Amino acid sequence: MNLITLTIDGVLVRVPEGSSVVAAFSLSGQDICRYSVTRQPRTAFCGMGICQECRVTINGQRRLACQTLCQPGMCVERSLNGSFTV
Ligand code: FES
Repeated sequence: MNLITLTIDGVLVRVPEGSSVVAAFSLSGQDICRYSVTRQPRTAFCGMGICQECRVTINGQRRLACQTLCQPGMCVERSLNGSFTV
């Protein structure tokens, strides 16, 4: 199994090649993607690009974590610091 390295919120994470970003969240032990406007933790729900619950910033652009495969050197940022993502 080939492993690739990316960062999630500035932390280096190694995941199997072919993993989705959502899978990388699970493997890193933190499933939350963002907080809702009412400060409820949100995580991937549908896993197929419908629910939009997995919106994150990847290399500076808004993406769906469930629809994005991890790439070496990828920079993933979630909204877990109290800022809201709607
Ligand atoms: S989990 Fe539903 S869009 Fe990604």
